[in-house]
Amino acid sequence: MFSYLFMKILEGRPRSYDRRMDAISRGRIRSVKEDVAREIPQGARVLEMGCGTAELASMLVGRGAVVTAFDPSPAMIEVARERVNREGIGDRLTLKHMGVEGMDGLSSGQYDAVVSTLVLSELSDQERRFALTHAKRVLKPEGIIVIGDEVIPRKALPRILQALFRLPLLLLTYLVSRNTTRPIADLPGELKSAGFAINKEIRTQGDAFALVIGSVPEKL
Ligand SMILES: C[S@@+](CC[C@H](N)C(=O)[O-])C[C@H]1O[C@@H](n2cnc3c(N)ncnc32)[C@H](O)[C@@H]1O
Repeated sequence: MFSYLFMKILEGRPRSYDRRMDAISRGRIRSVKEDVAREIPQGARVLEMGCGTAELASMLVGRGAVVTAFDPSPAMIEVARERVNREGIGDRLTLKHMGVEGMDGLSSGQYDAVVSTLVLSELSDQERRFALTHAKRVLKPEGIIVIGDEVIPRKALPRILQALFRLPLLLLTYLVSRNTTRPIADLPGELKSAGFAINKEIRTQGDAFALVIGSVPEKL
């Protein structure tokens, strides 16, 4: 749970971001990405929102996907570009320098899947609504969305503990990065409001992390 706050600090150091996140989360963040990648069918056309250093995008390519990934941070995109060159995957991974705010410029119905890890909790409610609305629009009929992110636990005690333990770190993170993350209160509910059907929700890390898989419902 605390790695997510440190994450905001580490985001300012994209070159060592994956290595340090892996160290402080004891491999959990990487395994979340592996879980997301496993949900994506072979050969799928995938859009990743907020790709950071493109670690997940690269895993998806490794599983046969064709990926477009975007991020608004120039430093993150630069590190992602270095990865694309190093791994020689430029024919299967296209990087775009933009935020979710630019999703209204993407064509409708072109992707089999939209994925994202640890991004929606950094957005305002309004930005998240916008991102999810356009995620649904850019998906093909029966396309899927797979989101891994920090959420508010459903039961009172874990919720109180999360709030208590986060507070000092939250202040520290804000002082260093002038920014923070906000666990999402109702991720499946927000996906439903954007028009998705919820297929699966897996809670881990003391109910404070959710992997949610939704799909564009079949038309009756
Ligand atoms: C914690 S990092 C996660 C990066 C990557 N998804 C991962 O799991 O390693 C959050 C990312 O969200 C990106 N981000 C912040 N605001 C965004 C926005 N409005 N639209 C898309 N991405 C955004 C940041 O630049 C950063 O790369």
